[in-house]
Amino acid sequence: MMQNSIVGKHAQYKKLESNILQISQEAKALKKQYDDVIDATVGMLHHEQGNVFKFGVVEKSLHALSDNETYLYAPVRGTKKFSEGVFDWVFGKHADTLRKQFKYSVIPTTGGSGAVSNSFYNFNDFNQKVLLPNIYWSPYKNFALEANIDLHTFLMYDENYKFNVEDFRKEAFKLAQEQGRLCVLLNDPSNNPTGLCMTMDNWRDVIKTLNEVNNLNIPVILIHDIAYIDYQLTPVEHSRDIFTTYEDLNEEILAIVVFSGSKTFSLYGFRVGAQIGISKSQEVIDNFTRVGDYSVRGRFSSVSQPGMNIIEKIFSTPEYKAQFIEELCVGKQLLKDRAALFLEEAKKHDLEIYPYCGGFFISIPTQNKTIFKDLSEDHVFVIPMQGLIRVAISSLALKDIPELVRKIKKHI
Ligand SMILES: Cc1ncc(COP(=O)(O)O)c(C=O)c1O
Repeated sequence: MMQNSIVGKHAQYKKLESNILQISQEAKALKKQYDDVIDATVGMLHHEQGNVFKFGVVEKSLHALSDNETYLYAPVRGTKKFSEGVFDWVFGKHADTLRKQFKYSVIPTTGGSGAVSNSFYNFNDFNQKVLLPNIYWSPYKNFALEANIDLHTFLMYDENYKFNVEDFRKEAFKLAQEQGRLCVLLNDPSNNPTGLCMTMDNWRDVIKTLNEVNNLNIPVILIHDIAYIDYQLTPVEHSRDIFTTYEDLNEEILAIVVFSGSKTFSLYGFRVGAQIGISKSQEVIDNFTRVGDYSVRGRFSSVSQPGMNIIEKIFSTPEYKAQFIEELCVGKQLLKDRAALFLEEAKKHDLEIYPYCGGFFISIPTQNKTIFKDLSEDHVFVIPMQGLIRVAISSLALKDIPELVRKIKKHI
């Protein structure tokens, strides 16, 4: 039989369109020609002067790595110090309680992206759908299609711009009954792109729904992407309180918490993250570990050795950890100052924005279908998404904010 395409049938549809990284490149190119270009596309934390926000303690750990810690292949499961360090950091003051209540396993992945992608691949049948809000970080769609699954959305907001618990519940039951499985993805707190933080009550309601679905003898998986948890405006201690709601999860439910070393440590290029599987059932965790290990090897072999070692060193050396926490406050302050000014300017210009409670992005709803073109012709680069534009305050200097808001108001 003659093959008429170099590309496999299942891959014919693939074309990376209006991709975030691509738009960023365009903005950078134009910035070289014109002084007034404002680039608010990059989801990486930058200083006011435009250089990336580096942690001194990360630099110190990186440069102290031995040859073995830098060059050798890393073990598929990482080291115990890495996984326990990540667990302690992610769950904070609730880590010990969760250790008592749950079985768990930590699988290192190539960034949070690798963690979401592995989870999609292993915890769905082909052609099934993952439930997530209608406003989402667009690569989720790529991870889904690449895993032979798709996405199904519920309305993120109600009419008061609050998390829409009712629609979540409605779509969760609908999807679960249709396909005999419910796999949910929530990016919280400090949502990308909207900056939403769900309340404790929202989380309790979500978990109640997951339990009710599971009571129908339907497998339930919660993928909880916490990429921006360290950049919530509330103090670090409180950002972890949402995990206390996990306590009520039914025994057979699997929660997969997605950790990103990129955001937490500004180690964007190192590609380190983790899938933290937690469940009250040992059998569920054994399955999580079995398929996770296999997929790491089968999909990307193992994770960056130097990247994991930097994280391990910081988490296992008390004075390094203390320094890291201090530096993180400086990073958070950059975002706080930019958000405060953005909100003030938006108020002045009567510009409606989604409620912001933390993270790298502020979003503005828009009906203008040509908003990207209109703004880029005016030398402003933002990311157009589902009915909104996303402004990366992570890489935006304070001095550019008043002009940016004025131009957004003009075109919105
Ligand atoms: C919502 C969200 N999840 C996960 C990630 C994963 O990032 P990485 O793969 O670099 O850890 C990102 C990065 O932009 C993100 O915005």
